[in-house]
Amino acid sequence: MATLADPETDYTALPDLPDGVFTAPLAKPSHVGDDWLEPSQTQYSSEDHAIWDDLFVRQMELLPGRAASAFLQGLEKLDLGKGGVPDFGAMSEELTALTGWSVVPVPMLIPDHVFFWHLANRRFPAGNFIRTRETFDYIQEPDVFHDVFGHVPMLTDPVFADYMQEYGRAGWKAMRYNRLKALGSLYWYTVEFGLIEEPDGIKAYGAGILSGPTEAVFAVEGESPNRIMLNVDRVMRTDYVISDLQPTYFVIESFEDLYRQTVERDFDRLYRNLPAGFTYANSAVIDVDNVLNRGTQEYHLRGGAGSGAKPV
Ligand SMILES: [Fe+2]
Repeated sequence: MATLADPETDYTALPDLPDGVFTAPLAKPSHVGDDWLEPSQTQYSSEDHAIWDDLFVRQMELLPGRAASAFLQGLEKLDLGKGGVPDFGAMSEELTALTGWSVVPVPMLIPDHVFFWHLANRRFPAGNFIRTRETFDYIQEPDVFHDVFGHVPMLTDPVFADYMQEYGRAGWKAMRYNRLKALGSLYWYTVEFGLIEEPDGIKAYGAGILSGPTEAVFAVEGESPNRIMLNVDRVMRTDYVISDLQPTYFVIESFEDLYRQTVERDFDRLYRNLPAGFTYANSAVIDVDNVLNRGTQEYHLRGGAGSGAKPV
C-alpha cells in the first residue's frame, strides 16, 4: 500500500529533526526520556475524577445528533463513561484488541517529531494531567479529557486508526521538505476540527470540537462558519486559529475518502510547490471550493473570542 513517506523509512526509531526545521520550543521535563513518556499515569484525586465525570456529562448532553456515529460507538466500545478518568492500561488493552492502538501518558504537549514517532507505531500520547474547575470550560494545553475523550474513541474505527498511523509516518516526509506547517494544517482541519457527512446530516469527528461545549453546536449548526468539502491541496495551504472557534470547517464524505485523499497519494510534488507561508486566510472561500454552507462569519466579524459575540 502506498504511504505518505518512503517505504524504506524505519519508523521504529525516533526520526532525526533535520537542521532548519522549526518546531515549537518545548522544555523537556527532566524525569522523561527522549520518548517523552511518563513512567506511569497520574494518581488522580477524587476531585480530578469528579471533574472528568462532570465534563463527560456536559458533553453527552450536547453530542448525540452532533457527533459522528463512529465517535459515539467508540465511546461505548471503550466504556469511557463508566466513571472517573479511564485507566490507560485497561483502555489500551481494549483498544489494542480492536485496532492495535494503545494510549500512553505524556506530561504536556510534546515535540512534533516525537508525536509522529508514537503515531507511526500506533501509540496515542495523551496528556496525563486534568484541568481544574477554574479552567473547566477551556484549556489551551491538551489535558487528559481532551486527549482521551476527544481523540481515543475515533481510534476504534479501523480506517481512521490507519489514517492516524499514516499521518505519523507522513511526518518524516514533511520534516524532510520543511513543510510541517502544511501537515499541521491537515491535522487541524481533520483530526481536531473535522466534520463528516452522514445520512442524517453533518456530524463532527474532530477532537477539538467534541471535547468542548461551544464548538460542538457552532461547528455543526452555526450560521457563521463556512462548511466546505475537504480538498487536501487547498487545506494544506490554509491558515487556522488556535484560540477561537474556526471560521471554516472541512467536511469529508467518509473515512475511506479521507484515507484515499491523503495516504493513497504522493505528497512530494505538493510539498515542492507549497509556498513557505499559508496562501488562504482561514475564512476564505475560493473558486475551487465545493461549498456546502457559506457562513455569515457574523461571530468573527463581531470580534470573536473575548468580544462577547454570540457563537451563532
Ligand atoms: Fe487534540
